[in-house]
Amino acid sequence: MVKNHCIKTKKDSLHIFVFGATGDLAHKKLFPSLFNLYRNMRLDKDIEIFAIGRRDYTDSSFEATLTPFIKAALVHDHIKEEELTKFFLKIHYLNLDFQNIGDMKKIKAMSDSDCISQIFYLAVPPAFYAIISKNLETVGLNKQCEEHNTFSRIVLEKPFGTDLKSAESLNKVLLAGFEERQIYRIDHYLGKEPVQNIFSFRFANNIFENIWSNKYIDSIQIQLLEDIGIEQRGAFYDATGVIIDVFQNHILQMLAILTMNKPKVFDEDHIRYEKNSLISKISIIDTIKGQYEGYKEEQNVDPQSNRDTFVAMKLHINSRRWKGIPVYIKTGKMLDMKKTIISVVFKNIKKELFRGQFNGDILSFIIQPDLGIKLNFAGKVPGMDYQITDIQMEYKYSDYFGELKSEYEKLLTDCILGNQMNFTRTDEIESSWRIVDKIEKEVKDKKPLMYKQNSSGPKEAQDLIKKDNRYWIL
Ligand SMILES: NC(=O)c1ccc[n+]([C@@H]2O[C@H](COP(=O)([O-])OP(=O)(O)OC[C@H]3O[C@@H](n4cnc5c(N)ncnc54)[C@H](OP(=O)(O)O)[C@@H]3O)[C@@H](O)[C@H]2O)c1
Repeated sequence: MVKNHCIKTKKDSLHIFVFGATGDLAHKKLFPSLFNLYRNMRLDKDIEIFAIGRRDYTDSSFEATLTPFIKAALVHDHIKEEELTKFFLKIHYLNLDFQNIGDMKKIKAMSDSDCISQIFYLAVPPAFYAIISKNLETVGLNKQCEEHNTFSRIVLEKPFGTDLKSAESLNKVLLAGFEERQIYRIDHYLGKEPVQNIFSFRFANNIFENIWSNKYIDSIQIQLLEDIGIEQRGAFYDATGVIIDVFQNHILQMLAILTMNKPKVFDEDHIRYEKNSLISKISIIDTIKGQYEGYKEEQNVDPQSNRDTFVAMKLHINSRRWKGIPVYIKTGKMLDMKKTIISVVFKNIKKELFRGQFNGDILSFIIQPDLGIKLNFAGKVPGMDYQITDIQMEYKYSDYFGELKSEYEKLLTDCILGNQMNFTRTDEIESSWRIVDKIEKEVKDKKPLMYKQNSSGPKEAQDLIKKDNRYWIL
């Protein structure tokens, strides 16, 4: 959306408005990332941050509340007090209600006399996205100035919608006020180094890309396992569940990056086009829904709740490249480990020639906690006869690189620079909801299979993969 005219410009200035500045995400992730960006001088613009909440803070009481969170998030970094002091000079707390158009006008009035770039970060419950977007539009904060090249961008957290219909209507509201190039839908997994590295691993190394198809690959697995429960987020989780909280975004995005076709150009348009094209070809073959024992007793959870805290699935991708290749998904809370791992299992062609125990050629991307890539392959056991065994080649990020930037720091930088490669587009969001709607419809009324806390999930999740003569790779 373009501004009509503006009188004077401060084109090197940037105002970042954090709606929901008093919330959990803002305290634990956003402000520590903004602090790091600021102190490392990677925000080359003259930046002012406006923290918006309804609580009755002053600048200094907000600073006092936020400081321990920044210190805790960056406990391994050496933070100097003067760095914090300088950073807090840039933060201004605004006690405003974003649902109130009068309050929104106050935000507009702050920059009326100048032409300044603005980012509106919506760290608020998703139910407020539409009203905030409409109110920004009503007061004209959606407009960008082409003459001075200043921008207005809106950043939205996940989950984006609760089903296809709600995502479509939210997209409609957003697109009435903002153009696609102004909209940044965050999925923090897309800011993770090992996820971004899948692009370079596949497209910068011919050795693997040439065998990236059903001719050589037997199956694919994605597991996102959490050892914690729902913590204090009972009301949110009981209305959401693991399929919407994790599968709809992180898992589908990782699967798309892993299996999409090579983009013609490595840029935001081509990558998002290929990801969407892949996501729209997914079909669900089998689903196991689980719930950990004790979930119903959690705070703010319906005691009769059928909500999914675990899901295991078998999928297919209906393309020539992936025809017949099963994709297994497993994700859940309160499991016996915290791990996100993507495994590509290759067909085992020559095994019958040799004696010995051998699991097969398996390539694993370990997204967390020990970031890296592992390749399991066969090697000869030293000795007189020809016997093979499993050997592992391993790449650990920590052996090559120092401290990695947090995903929020990277994604905020992308947003400031106007790079949308790691943000999901309207069509991708809607394609993923199309699949999730089908799954939700199928499992909604099913009673979840109960599993013990600190276990690997319901036994049926083992059976799902075992009946295909495969096993979960960890
Ligand atoms: N927390 C996480 O780790 C996490 C991770 C991924 C995604 N997300 C997403 O991030 C978003 C925020 O989550 P959260 O956990 O930070 O939520 P939260 O702790 O409940 O915080 C919500 C914030 O919204 C503000 N707010 C609500 N209604 C308002 C109004 N009418 N006017 C002004 N401010 C209002 C609250 O301000 P007051 O309290 O001052 O009223 C509070 O700052 C959600 O979409 C969530 O799904 C969160």
